[in-house]
Amino acid sequence: MEIDFSSWLGLALRWVHLITGIAWIGSSFYFIWLDNSLKPPADPKDKKDGVGGELWAVHGGGFYHKKKYQVAPDHMPDDLHWFKWEAYATWISGFLLLCLVYYYGAGIYLIDRAKLDLHPVDATLIGLGFIVGSWIGYNALCKSPLGKDNRIFGFVWFALMTAATYVLCQIFSGRGAFIHAGAMIGTVMAANVFMVIIPNQKKTVAALLKGEKPDPALGKTAKQRSLHNNYMTLPVLLIMISNHYPMLYAVPANWAILAGLCAAAWPIREFFNQKHKGNTDHRYLVAGAAGFVLVMLAASWLQTQARLERLANVGKVDDAAVMEIVKTHCTACHAKTPSHESVDTAPLDVVLETLKDLRQHAVRVKAQTVDADTMPLGNETGMTAEERALLGAWLEQQKK
Ligand code: HEC
Repeated sequence: MEIDFSSWLGLALRWVHLITGIAWIGSSFYFIWLDNSLKPPADPKDKKDGVGGELWAVHGGGFYHKKKYQVAPDHMPDDLHWFKWEAYATWISGFLLLCLVYYYGAGIYLIDRAKLDLHPVDATLIGLGFIVGSWIGYNALCKSPLGKDNRIFGFVWFALMTAATYVLCQIFSGRGAFIHAGAMIGTVMAANVFMVIIPNQKKTVAALLKGEKPDPALGKTAKQRSLHNNYMTLPVLLIMISNHYPMLYAVPANWAILAGLCAAAWPIREFFNQKHKGNTDHRYLVAGAAGFVLVMLAASWLQTQARLERLANVGKVDDAAVMEIVKTHCTACHAKTPSHESVDTAPLDVVLETLKDLRQHAVRVKAQTVDADTMPLGNETGMTAEERALLGAWLEQQKK
């Protein structure tokens, strides 16, 4: 019996990551909604006890009456629930998955030999450097005078992340670059919980237990980080699903496409934040949708131009030339019995051994190899732009 351990481990980690991610983002969305929806307490006694806001809700067959104490109640409840393991478990499972897929599998998923012919160890160290660097840079920025104005901070942080993504796209495969941008944002968000939000809450609780008045600055800093996390949620989720879309990551100007979509996510998040506070303004939604469509048009135009350019100088391509290309660049992996050391069975059941196979998978081959340069994975065999153009022209000819 043969067990493909790395695939099973990958499946387990991805599953856990998705579940914990839903728990984290879900509770985070819930608390954002709750915080923004609180109304001043109706009962004067509550006001005297330090309740800053309250809310009634109905769910699952019962009524809930939430009260938020501004800073803290005057004595600690015996049983206090902390929300932190959702975030930690998401980060830990995500980091392990990153190590398995992109560092252990650096040769095929992270490194792009046409950009930089890195050793897997060097590629891993560069990747980790970006992740650690993102937290150090972000944290310093928060503490700097720029951190005081949320709007200015947002612009600067967005510009810095876009610049980092641009640099990553010059170093790694598009997919590897994107996942690092996502890991950087995810790390900043989890570190906000681990290094600032939870420690500050602990200090508040400790002060209360000693009978002292907690420092309101602790809560203010935690709130700032929490607000940043709120706006980073939609981009990080987009990046996590982006690896299903070569039209985003394996194309010219991939970094700009990502930046454009993340920018379009801002008004969407803002729409909900405002709506919770009772200011429903649909112009935010329209702006977000318009941004998405604009990015779609710009990306498609760029991709069409690139394809036309590739195909412009190619005449009729004969079958033998195409078979040669596929033999050189694809069949090591895409065969019934692959010869590539990292591949045991034809990936996603795509076998490319005959012209018939190639015609059968024409649409997917075009998407992976002609419109984008995702395949061959890691471009170990150094497939050239000319060869992609020849393959593209041949696939076009099959339609006639
Ligand atoms: C080093 C191994 C390797 C080589 C070489 C390789 N592929 Fe792949 N290919 C893969 C793997 C692994 C997957 C699955 C990717 C995934 O799960 O995201 C894949 C997936 C695909 C898919 C399906 C993608 C989808 O989601 O529909 C197509 C089509 C494809 N490859 C075409 C090609 C072509 C054409 C070539 C040659 C130009 C090629 N591949 C070379 C490993 C390889």
